[in-house]
Amino acid sequence: MRCPIKLNRNNFPQWFLRLVPNADDPRSLINMSAETKVFSRFVSPIKIGTTYKSTEPERHKLADRAILNVAKNLQTCPVVLDLGISDGTTSLELIEKLGNRFNKYFATDIYLSLPYLEHKGDGVFYHPQNHECIMRVSDRFIIYKATEKSISPIKALANHFIMTSPPYDIEKVQSLHLIHPQLRRLALEDNRIVLTEHDIMLEWQFDNPDIIKVANVLNLSYFSKEQIARAIANLKSSLKIGGHLFIVENRDIEKVSHFTKDKSGFCLNETINGGSEITDLVQ
Ligand SMILES: C[S@@+](CC[C@H](N)C(=O)[O-])C[C@H]1O[C@@H](n2cnc3c(N)ncnc32)[C@H](O)[C@@H]1O
Repeated sequence: MRCPIKLNRNNFPQWFLRLVPNADDPRSLINMSAETKVFSRFVSPIKIGTTYKSTEPERHKLADRAILNVAKNLQTCPVVLDLGISDGTTSLELIEKLGNRFNKYFATDIYLSLPYLEHKGDGVFYHPQNHECIMRVSDRFIIYKATEKSISPIKALANHFIMTSPPYDIEKVQSLHLIHPQLRRLALEDNRIVLTEHDIMLEWQFDNPDIIKVANVLNLSYFSKEQIARAIANLKSSLKIGGHLFIVENRDIEKVSHFTKDKSGFCLNETINGGSEITDLVQ
């Protein structure tokens, strides 16, 4: 598991940061301008439950090219469902590439905002559902709630700081938007773009998509095989017959598995760079 205490990248020299786990300061999100190119850098260190919100621009070049090819060849403009978008930087890129070739674009994540408050100069972040403290940020450290059972001194220290943080107080917390301001603005201007919270473990309730993109969400370090199977079953029931599912992974290199859905289920259509690690769980 990743270290539950990281250095705040703002306040240490570069040479030292090469030796020790470190992260950007997510408190920078609070007053970030709409045009910023670096929004995703400050969302990425946030961890909610088992998943990090890590994302960055231009990481889906191959997947987006394959999606564009599909969109070009469809008779009508597709409904696109993008799941687990983090701050939506990669959604903004795909929307721009699609131009006018989409009917609806659902940009979704399990959480689009996070309760936050300032306490004695630190930033304290809470789980959006159970309101437990999940992260505390000072000028020197980014501290995560250590989730694993084994008790190493560093995990005990992390949990000490988390447990001594002020409890969630509805009067004091503010809601920190996790979605890039440009995508929020675009969704207000263009009613084809819908930003909504959606848990991939639950059934999709809106228009059935022609194209589903799920990037860096369904992997075995975040979810068990059973959970992945449940999510795949939901994707299967929502996707139109003849529709396309793209599963994307970015570790060392970008990997993509592209499936089409027929009456009997998903068929593997193509893989790029060997495909996703969960390819076998989809078929
Ligand atoms: C590593 S980020 C990937 C972000 C983006 N898709 C990319 O590839 O850059 C994983 C995202 O999945 C979201 N996520 C985690 N569990 C989820 C769930 N059950 N349903 C929907 N999204 C989920 C997280 O909130 C996070 O934003």
